[in-house]
Amino acid sequence: MSHLELFNDSYERAIGSNPHFFDTFYDLFIAKSASFAEKFTHVSMERQKLMLRDAINFLMSYSINHQATDYLEQLAIKHQEDIRVSTEDYELWLDALLETLAIHDPHYSDDVAASWIQTLTPGITFMQTYRRTTDQDIRNSY
Ligand code: HEM
Repeated sequence: MSHLELFNDSYERAIGSNPHFFDTFYDLFIAKSASFAEKFTHVSMERQKLMLRDAINFLMSYSINHQATDYLEQLAIKHQEDIRVSTEDYELWLDALLETLAIHDPHYSDDVAASWIQTLTPGITFMQTYRRTTDQDIRNSY
């Protein structure tokens, strides 16, 4: 089974029709750093959970086609410039996601974890390293 198939099956088991996945994720993620709790103080967590579900799909598509959509570029810029997320913060994000998976996927295993890491890492790396170009700076200043 390819890593994408492993990922898709695990995604269905853990997130598919499970309303608790993102509750667990944000509990674990926010507990990792006092600065995370602070950053989320004024954020609507219900909206946040829905948006993260979509974002995971965008990360997955990026892993397949390596084409960054405007959505992913804007998300990267928002995290870098507004929320000021560090490289280490992204590592903690992935750690929290895998810990959540271990709780919610009844068939969780090292192979399943590896399939999530392989599927999401290209998109996470994109978000960590993407920089606005000069053209965009000019466009956005009008
Ligand atoms: C690859 C990893 C991540 C993904 C896919 C992701 C995804 C998202 C999405 C989809 C939103 C909603 C954007 C919107 O409202 O337009 C969001 C907002 C947010 N993210 Fe992330 N995120 C990631 C990592 C992180 C990390 C590491 C932090 C560290 C603190 C973080 C903090 C936040 C905060 C505070 C907001 C709310 C911003 C606001 O509404 O003011 N995110 N994220």
